[in-house]
Amino acid sequence: MANLQVKIGELELKNPLITAAGAVGDGLALSDYYPPAQLGGMVLRSVTFEPQCGYPAPRVAEATGGMLTSIGLENRGAEYVASHELPRLQGCGTAVIPSIAALTEEEYQLTAARFDKVAGLAALEINLACADEQGLDFGADPARVGRIISSIKAVTGLPLIAKLSPAAQDQLKVAEAAATAGALAVSLTAPLPGMAIDIEKRQPILGRGWGRLSGPAVKPLALHMVHQLSKNLRLPVIGMGGIACGTDAIEFMMAGACAFQVGAANVHDPLIAPRILSELNEWLDAHGVRNVNEIVGVIA
Ligand SMILES: Cc1cc2nc3c(=O)[nH]c(=O)nc-3n(C[C@H](O)[C@H](O)[C@H](O)COP(=O)(O)O)c2cc1C
Repeated sequence: MANLQVKIGELELKNPLITAAGAVGDGLALSDYYPPAQLGGMVLRSVTFEPQCGYPAPRVAEATGGMLTSIGLENRGAEYVASHELPRLQGCGTAVIPSIAALTEEEYQLTAARFDKVAGLAALEINLACADEQGLDFGADPARVGRIISSIKAVTGLPLIAKLSPAAQDQLKVAEAAATAGALAVSLTAPLPGMAIDIEKRQPILGRGWGRLSGPAVKPLALHMVHQLSKNLRLPVIGMGGIACGTDAIEFMMAGACAFQVGAANVHDPLIAPRILSELNEWLDAHGVRNVNEIVGVIA
């Protein structure tokens, strides 16, 4: 069996598979399916400082090769999550990575400061693919991203993963701003904007009118983004977008991702993560690869 350990800067994971933000909710139900200790890490549902009730239903719609969601950051707020949910994940045997979202720049820092007091966290993922009160993704603007990451660095020593927004015109500039401000790594891609229409009712299917597309439909685009960024960025890149089997994960690692996240596939099959890991293992063994890091970035 190959060595699956990976390092994302100072963060060491037992393997490169991380469940993506939101895909396993608050993480508490995962052990109904398999021991979370099998995972390299798990990113939790995004949390804002104040509780949010989210967008109107329907919040999920089918799409060819994927799913559209418009959840609107529904969550119970930083205080509840820090005092009731995160402590229950202590000792679960995997890297627990809360995700922080916000409606204002200042709110990111407030939540990070609250989570800094919680024991046993491995890192924070900063969701820059969420929108401010004007509807603009924070991650669209490099200067804003720099300010947000710096303000979070000022209140926590936890490693920071900047989850980029597909709304950015130049992902590299945004990622470099995150690097300069002290992020440990970047992750991409967040889901892409999309919609579905009920032609009989002549109205959008999602309650909010539009949503974000995840799943296999986004994989080629996500893979290209990861490849482009990892060639030019000085930070480690965590790849995601449509990963549903071992070979998908291998493609992302060959494109340059040092680790990968699995999102929508968990919704279809809660046992997908252990299966992806065993497929990854089988492929490495069959090809005589002793260490998973050997395949990272092999595509020029
Ligand atoms: C049901 C669902 C909930 C999600 N919730 C969040 C979230 O809370 N925060 C976030 O940053 N991304 C969230 N995402 C996006 C995923 O983390 C991931 O970036 C995206 O779905 C692309 O990966 P995938 O194609 O493997 O799903 C969610 C995705 C799904 C399908």
